[in-house]
Amino acid sequence: MRIVTLLNEKGGVGKTTLSFHLAAGLAVIGLRVLAVDADAQGSLTETMGFAQAPGLYDLIVREQAFRNVLRYVNPEIYEYPNRRVKGQLFLLPSNIETQSIASNSADALAIARRFAELEGSIDFIIVDSSPTPSLLHGAVYMATDAILYPTQCEYLSFRGLQNSFHHRQENERYRRQFNFAPIKNLGIVPTMYRGRTLEHRENLAELKETYGDRVWREIAQSTVWTESSRVHRTIWNYAPSSPAARQGWVLVKQFLEAISYVASTRS
Ligand SMILES: Nc1ncnc2c1ncn2[C@@H]1O[C@H](COP(=O)(O)OP(=O)(O)OP(=O)(O)O)[C@@H](O)[C@H]1O
Ligand SMILES: [Mg+2]
Repeated sequence: MRIVTLLNEKGGVGKTTLSFHLAAGLAVIGLRVLAVDADAQGSLTETMGFAQAPGLYDLIVREQAFRNVLRYVNPEIYEYPNRRVKGQLFLLPSNIETQSIASNSADALAIARRFAELEGSIDFIIVDSSPTPSLLHGAVYMATDAILYPTQCEYLSFRGLQNSFHHRQENERYRRQFNFAPIKNLGIVPTMYRGRTLEHRENLAELKETYGDRVWREIAQSTVWTESSRVHRTIWNYAPSSPAARQGWVLVKQFLEAISYVASTRS
């Protein structure tokens, strides 16, 4: 089981959109996936068509069993039309109570311990995080194997990225105390890219100069992303032949390469 968090301490850069698509894409190819909404805004929960609910809070603070808090996600909302999904997707929903998890739980390893219960039943946990750094981020860092950073090709998003790297570094000493391996920087995904503007082209070049091949293929700005999220479906389900659907699939492929995970599809 691998646990991957999507993070950028800048709001609105595509964390939730890409969390949903990564989790769904992995399920499409046959993996058992849990998408975790760790943001009190509950955007991932709503994007996936569920009512907000205290999933992570119930798990950590009320010590509920997974079977009481997980939601099964119907493949109808994420599969390619007429193609059967081979894996399974679950959601751990969120609501405003997520904000107070850290103040109600003194155990920084609580999330890591609860997630470890899923070893053997789940292949990937994809965690969608909030843009504002908090104590909860600390507990998420302790549970995470790798982080993927979506960013817009704009100054403030790059600042958010740098702050995110800085906080990950700061957290490494806590991980070392528990003999945890360092968190892997899986990659940086340029999102909502507008290749026709000089600003975006220049900023993307700068990003590549700084971070080299850790920068993944860019995802262009396109209204179909917003439309698909409004109807609670993946881009593959909503607009399967769009360029956005192709770019979303490239993201899944790059993810699999980066995590060096042999996608052993179940039949
Ligand atoms: N490639 C894209 N082109 C156009 N719009 C996009 C694209 N990707 C995401 N969006 C839209 O941009 C908005 C912000 O995306 P999203 O909610 O995924 O960002 P976020 O980083 O999770 O935000 P927050 O920090 O508030 O949690 C959403 O309305 C989403 O539908
Ligand atoms: Mg979000």
